[in-house]
Amino acid sequence: MLENLQVRHYTAEQAEDLLDQLVDVYLDAHAEDGSLYNADRYRHQLAMHMPRAGWQLVAATTDGKLVGYIYGFPLPTDTRWWDGIQKPIPEGFTSEDGRRTFAISELLVRRAWQRQGIARALHDELMSSRAEERATLLVRPDNTAARNVYRSWGWQSITTLQPAWENAPTFLVLVRTPQPNPPARVGRISKDA
Ligand SMILES: CC(C)(COP(=O)(O)OP(=O)(O)OC[C@H]1O[C@@H](n2cnc3c(N)ncnc32)[C@H](O)[C@@H]1OP(=O)(O)O)[C@@H](O)C(=O)NCCC(=O)NCCS
Repeated sequence: MLENLQVRHYTAEQAEDLLDQLVDVYLDAHAEDGSLYNADRYRHQLAMHMPRAGWQLVAATTDGKLVGYIYGFPLPTDTRWWDGIQKPIPEGFTSEDGRRTFAISELLVRRAWQRQGIARALHDELMSSRAEERATLLVRPDNTAARNVYRSWGWQSITTLQPAWENAPTFLVLVRTPQPNPPARVGRISKDA
């Protein structure tokens, strides 16, 4: 089934046409996770994130259907990404210069396509294309499956963070150096961005 899978890089401009599908995959992947995961909030998040310098999407499609994706952006000097971080943290941990940290905002796979290696393929493809010193992401402490996945991929939990947005949960802050895992054997890769 995964023989037809294509993994492709997109800039924000190239991803504009995918907006509805990006929202659809988000809603599908989080269908059992409660009202926080709604279309309006996610469209707002994308509208905030996509214009950021260096925004990058890696998306997996099969027969023209978007089945999963990962996106993120490098943190600029004046980033507010770290607002709400819980101390103690290593000295200088939140200092950014635009080249230090790539922040992963979402990794999502449609439920019908999960457990087939797609998330790993997306993750490894994005990580192997980045030149920053480190990558970071936020994961909910109760998302045991994702936490286990990230731990097995070499991510380390540093502290917790509660973003300023309304009803934001407290997340675990994970960090990893963007070295590729051993290559995942799924899909064809095309790099158009
Ligand atoms: C987390 C998520 C992206 C994983 O996608 P996926 O395509 O099913 O993941 P993969 O098939 O690549 O599996 C990756 C690894 O996780 C394991 N895994 C995946 N789902 C799992 C689950 N529900 N329970 C336990 N292990 C799981 C796999 O065995 C695999 O292990 P390996 O890399 O050692 O072989 C997907 O479940 C999802 O979209 N969840 C909802 C959104 C979410 O929680 N995103 C991450 C939050 S930051």
